[in-house]
Amino acid sequence: MDIIVNKIKSLKGEIEIPADKSITHRAFMFSGLTKGIVKINNFSLGQDCISTLNIMKNLGCSVKYINENQLILNSKNALTQPITTLDCGNSGTTTRLMCGILSGQNFNSHLIGDDSLSNRPMKRVIEPLTLMGAKIKHNNYKLPLHIIGNNLHAIEYNSSLASAQVKSCILLAGLYANGTTTFIEPYKSRNHTELMFQYMGADININQNKVSIKNSKLNPIDISICGDISSAAFFIIAALIIPDSEILIKNVGINETRSGIIDILKNMNANIDIINNRIISNEKVADLKVKYSNLKATTIQGSIIPRLIDEIPILAVAATQAEGTTIIKDAQDLRNKEADRIKAVCSELKKLGADIEETIDGFIINGKKELTGDSVIDCYHDHRIAMSAYIAGLICKKPIKINEFQWVNISFPEFLNLAEKLIST
Ligand code: S3P
Repeated sequence: MDIIVNKIKSLKGEIEIPADKSITHRAFMFSGLTKGIVKINNFSLGQDCISTLNIMKNLGCSVKYINENQLILNSKNALTQPITTLDCGNSGTTTRLMCGILSGQNFNSHLIGDDSLSNRPMKRVIEPLTLMGAKIKHNNYKLPLHIIGNNLHAIEYNSSLASAQVKSCILLAGLYANGTTTFIEPYKSRNHTELMFQYMGADININQNKVSIKNSKLNPIDISICGDISSAAFFIIAALIIPDSEILIKNVGINETRSGIIDILKNMNANIDIINNRIISNEKVADLKVKYSNLKATTIQGSIIPRLIDEIPILAVAATQAEGTTIIKDAQDLRNKEADRIKAVCSELKKLGADIEETIDGFIINGKKELTGDSVIDCYHDHRIAMSAYIAGLICKKPIKINEFQWVNISFPEFLNLAEKLIST
């Protein structure tokens, strides 16, 4: 589906942000490990999460929908040898977390994925899992993976990467390992696994960047999932850069390991009010009031990177409208995402008239620059590049065309409807 995006006057009104993708993956997987019945309220309808749900079904979980957004997952007869290969689609989170779960089972399984996923690095999970006794056959550390279920033993692992996917994989394997498994990372990555493990009664110990887990059972307990700050980020930044905008975004997860975007934008002089703070299923949630602001440039580097890793493409759009030079560095893992996001952001924003320079681990953007548009954007089969381009299109002087916009469905199928609601209010 190719779409045309036109310049608009302002964004107004309120929206509710759909469920968090990272938390939904974990809710589907962890409920499936309880040997009980769990009601899950407000899950993500993105294709990545559906890939996870289908795999859990293939492993013996049964799923009953109460309505479009509520389901009951019954894992009394799970986990069992899957009948077919397990298709992770486009989802790195599904693949890496499932590796941790499947390595400790008493059956074998086979993981596949789409072209993009089949080119993404899996060494980061295969190496530590192998140290725990896992047996994984791979193709130069890429998919397809053949996992031979085995007895696992605990390790203490010092990761060179700050990655929630790697951490979660090792902690999941730790549920099945003899002894205490410890994961240490250089900076703290998102902690949804730790919070949901606590919520479900696992024997977990958290000390800053060091997390330990003992062989534990998870309790079946109902889960409600808050809105995704990574999805909200597109509308937060749209409202900040489109003159005269004022919007309310409801039900946004503001866990501090994810809210680096708010800290950086506030540092850039953004007018964002955080109201109605509350806790939902062990996660912090709030509503956000956002108003058009005169943004100032900043430098984004070091420990904040994992706290906003998925928001860097849309932050680059914000930087084109900020006074001064914005530098983003220490973000080299962006080259290993659904696409090489450093390359994709630079090539597509340049087409729109931005002053942006690619570096090894990020980019340098000079603002404030009026975007010209009048160009055809390639979204690199990457949902976040597609949505970032759409928001940039709303401020371009001339219309832009975005090819294959359907990639948005990977994380945010409701994106266009919500955008249109804010545009027409
Ligand atoms: C995720 C962790 C991040 C993030 C991804 C989702 C997760 O990846 O980019 O979209 O749910 O654990 P890394 O942990 O590999 O940085």
